[in-house]
Amino acid sequence: MKQVPERLAVAPIEGSRLRERLRTVVVPDHDDLAALLADRIVEVIHHETATKGRCVLGLATGSTPLGIYQELIRRHRAGEVDFSHVVTFNLDEYYPMPPASPHSYRRYMQENLFDHVNLPAAQAHVPDGGTPREQIAQACAAYERAIADAGGIDFQLLGIGQSGHIGFNEPGSTRESRTRLVTLDTITRRAAAADFFGEDNVPREAITMGVATILEAREIALIATGEHKAAIVRRAVEGEPSHDVAATFLQGHPNATGYLDLAAAAELTRIKTPWVLESVTWTPALTERALVWLSEQAGKAILKLTAQDYAEHHLSPLLARSGAPGPINGEVFNRLRDKIRGRARLPTRNRILVFSPHPDDDVISMGGILRKLWENENAITVAYMTSGNIAVFDHDVRRHLEFTERAATTLGVDPAAVRRGPAVLSHRGGAQAPHRRRGRRDRRPAARGGPPRLRLRRRRPLRSPRHPPHVQAGGGPRPGRAARPPPGGVAVPRGVAGMVDHRSRRAGAAVAGRAARQDPRDLQAPVPEGHRAVPRGARRPRVLAARRGAQPRDRRAC
Ligand code: F6R
Repeated sequence: MKQVPERLAVAPIEGSRLRERLRTVVVPDHDDLAALLADRIVEVIHHETATKGRCVLGLATGSTPLGIYQELIRRHRAGEVDFSHVVTFNLDEYYPMPPASPHSYRRYMQENLFDHVNLPAAQAHVPDGGTPREQIAQACAAYERAIADAGGIDFQLLGIGQSGHIGFNEPGSTRESRTRLVTLDTITRRAAAADFFGEDNVPREAITMGVATILEAREIALIATGEHKAAIVRRAVEGEPSHDVAATFLQGHPNATGYLDLAAAAELTRIKTPWVLESVTWTPALTERALVWLSEQAGKAILKLTAQDYAEHHLSPLLARSGAPGPINGEVFNRLRDKIRGRARLPTRNRILVFSPHPDDDVISMGGILRKLWENENAITVAYMTSGNIAVFDHDVRRHLEFTERAATTLGVDPAAVRRGPAVLSHRGGAQAPHRRRGRRDRRPAARGGPPRLRLRRRRPLRSPRHPPHVQAGGGPRPGRAARPPPGGVAVPRGVAGMVDHRSRRAGAAVAGRAARQDPRDLQAPVPEGHRAVPRGARRPRVLAARRGAQPRDRRAC
């Protein structure tokens, strides 16, 4: 278990809460949130054990609470909190799911909290995903009784799914619902797909505490981090209570709070457009944000925004600063334009190191700049933090290959070479998802003699929009190595050794670090070697293998 350094408390980000129906606390990032919640949980444990001899916690799994659990472990090790009088009830469990499975929430809790604190095993409750189907109703009723017998939940920790679920109370769950077997929403199963190596492998059902069970907790903390939660957080906090979003039922609870990092709070009115709620100090950055927003609202280019547009969108106070839209529009337009750097303002014939957390981040976020740097004959090295191989499913590779096959003639690719692609995937037996059911296409005969090469005709320069020719790996793929599929028929070989983040913040991450424990090289299917369309004589950018603890053989890609 990683040692977590102590974190100083940060002041929450303030603003008008006029539109908020659920109390919110917004902090800058995930670690601030973890420290804040760990503080509160320790406080509750101290208070409840001192006053009534035990404390009952309702716990969640997923990626969001991981930092909180690490903080609690750190505090326990530092002697700041004792779990011997704590009783816990987890919200949910996939069904069917043997408790010992690496995908089970029971296992998640053991690995991420229970095994590291002095919580007696008999006091830790997680719904049993191994219960025979005919006994589920009985087991759910027993779970409810156990919560009541423990005196009810003092503090309930909740994540929020992108479907708006709390626990696994999916859209349609009623305010009165109790612990039961439910069918998971497509959004939820999609969010968990990466943890199960494909949506098809995600269980279709789960056992969850009901909305009514959750709302009986004396204090509730809804936690959310990351921009992928921003839209549903806004719905939960500012929207009408509705069966469509179970989290909106929290609005009726007297002691529920949404704890959010800035990314998850980004769509709240007080964060996104504070000027519609209160008067603001117009800094250049805020003015720029307001004008970009206004131009989206009005559907006009910034230089075309009129006084009427300002007035109709709560921006009269900004307009009043200069009396007319022209100067403000011009100032913001110039600021935005200045962010675009021409080749003349970029380094030439230099060495450049680009850090890209994930393959793609470089080209997606700064593809234009990379191209200019390459045109300026710089020696570019891209350091990837992860191979990204588990982010690409076989079926996605197949989809791209099938597209390439159909479009081969137009793209100037040899159709026979493209047709060999799917065979390469089945050659490894769907190596990305060792336990998954294999479809008809997976069983196609394997290619002989190693991965075939795509033969691209040089007549027409081919470029993938995601892998422009100026970004290029050193070495090309070796058997069993990470390589991206060739979207649009152009493969840019990437001899990248991957490193997987141990604290996956991916939505729905069921078991943190599970992916990290698997060697990426065992998971990926080889992809046909692609073609480098780098002009002769240009200095070639390289991909640096940035794998933590990489073996010398991994570094051959450098
Ligand atoms: C898990 C649970 C779920 C998650 C929610 C958010 O026990 O009850 O409601 O809290 O799906 O998951 P993450 O935190 O992975 O985004």
